[in-house]
Amino acid sequence: MSNIVGLNRRAFIKSAGFTALAGATGVIATGSNQVAAASSSRMAGGKFDFDTPYNRVGTNCSRWDSPPLNYPSGNFRYGMGVATMDFEAAPCITEALEERGKHHVWGYMSSTDSLRDAIVQWNGNRHKLDIDPKSVVISAGVYPGIIAALRAFSPAGSKALMLTPTYDGFQTHCRHTKVLISESQMAYRNGRFEIDWEDLESKMTPDTRSMIVCNPQNPTGNVWTRDELMRIGQMCLERNIIVLSDEIHSDIVRPGHKYVPFASLADKAVVNNSITFNAVSKTFNLAGMKVAYYYTSNPTLLGRINDYHRADLNTLGVVANEAAMRHGADWFDQALAYLHENHTFAETYIKQNIPLIKFHKSEGTYLTWLDVSAAMEKIGAAEMAKAQAKRSPEHYFQDWLVENSGVYLNPGSNYGAGGEGHMRMNLASSRLVLQDVFDAMAGALNKV
Ligand SMILES: Cc1ncc(COP(=O)(O)O)c(C=O)c1O
Repeated sequence: MSNIVGLNRRAFIKSAGFTALAGATGVIATGSNQVAAASSSRMAGGKFDFDTPYNRVGTNCSRWDSPPLNYPSGNFRYGMGVATMDFEAAPCITEALEERGKHHVWGYMSSTDSLRDAIVQWNGNRHKLDIDPKSVVISAGVYPGIIAALRAFSPAGSKALMLTPTYDGFQTHCRHTKVLISESQMAYRNGRFEIDWEDLESKMTPDTRSMIVCNPQNPTGNVWTRDELMRIGQMCLERNIIVLSDEIHSDIVRPGHKYVPFASLADKAVVNNSITFNAVSKTFNLAGMKVAYYYTSNPTLLGRINDYHRADLNTLGVVANEAAMRHGADWFDQALAYLHENHTFAETYIKQNIPLIKFHKSEGTYLTWLDVSAAMEKIGAAEMAKAQAKRSPEHYFQDWLVENSGVYLNPGSNYGAGGEGHMRMNLASSRLVLQDVFDAMAGALNKV
């Protein structure tokens, strides 16, 4: 057990806010719950265990180990920011890595055929999407793929259009490629972030060469419908704007919604005007393994993007990803059900206990997009941010929340126009941790 959970366990318990440790029995007491400190996703009775908190602290992990560097006060306790899951990996992944580890040579790999077959199979099985394996290029993350695409299709000084609020990595991609960001802010109507079609059209200017679609949308959780995607696709096609569809969250969709791959749209011309970027790094929590892929049915586009892309492979990443896609479906189905319940838990908790936060229902992703504008108003975030020269009122709120509750969230202002008054929260944790997190937030916010 200590090998699995024991990494700097005391530090984890301290920083995660667990209040007691009953050594020999391996029981951690959280504020309100007793939790066995065992391996979190080993199977028992056909069920993986996502409840038992799994210690990530002290593993050089960006979610739990980076934020405390900014809080010398020591008040940081809960990393609910960076989009990785806290769950132990599916056992099939660890077993495959252990097996490969028995062979002690780590030279270049010879082929990605088997990995590409696994990608094709995964998309076929889960999404009824038929991808030509020859059109699939492996990349060391979605990042390098989109950067190569921007280099290929969006000359420096031209614009890339995106619906906001959206994933802040797109801003980085544009910075790297000297492409200007063009934002079309979504409108919040009847509990959903909706595309403002008129605004979107007005932003499709002649100097706009690409549109980055995020499906499902990080951070608002939209799972775009077939009609919405088709309308975007046709508008882009008519104006010679290439669609770059980032579908990294595609597997994580809540009941009642359905992920529509851009490449599955009925209009072939629309599909041929697009490139899709995907990975199972969110699905199976493999972000550190640096394996993603892109594909397009249009060989001309594929050739152009490949001119700017070098496919670097890492052996363990290939082994882990292939094992996940070939053998991990059951683990993921259970993880997905657990994540759905986490969303429901968050909704119920917030509605019942934290009146200063407005909850918005995500259709997909394991992220939730919280309207904290009333709380920010109460603590005078705008004035305090100015007085303390913070990057934004949301950054002030981020620091305030850490100092007053230990909970670290991502400031909405990071996600472009429309991010004001919001924070992004990662719900991919044990529900026992979530309970402590929300208790801590309620404790702080209900005092102001
Ligand atoms: C929408 C989106 N795209 C891309 C990434 C990063 O992808 P990668 O780590 O494969 O570069 C993330 C990570 O959170 C994301 O949310």
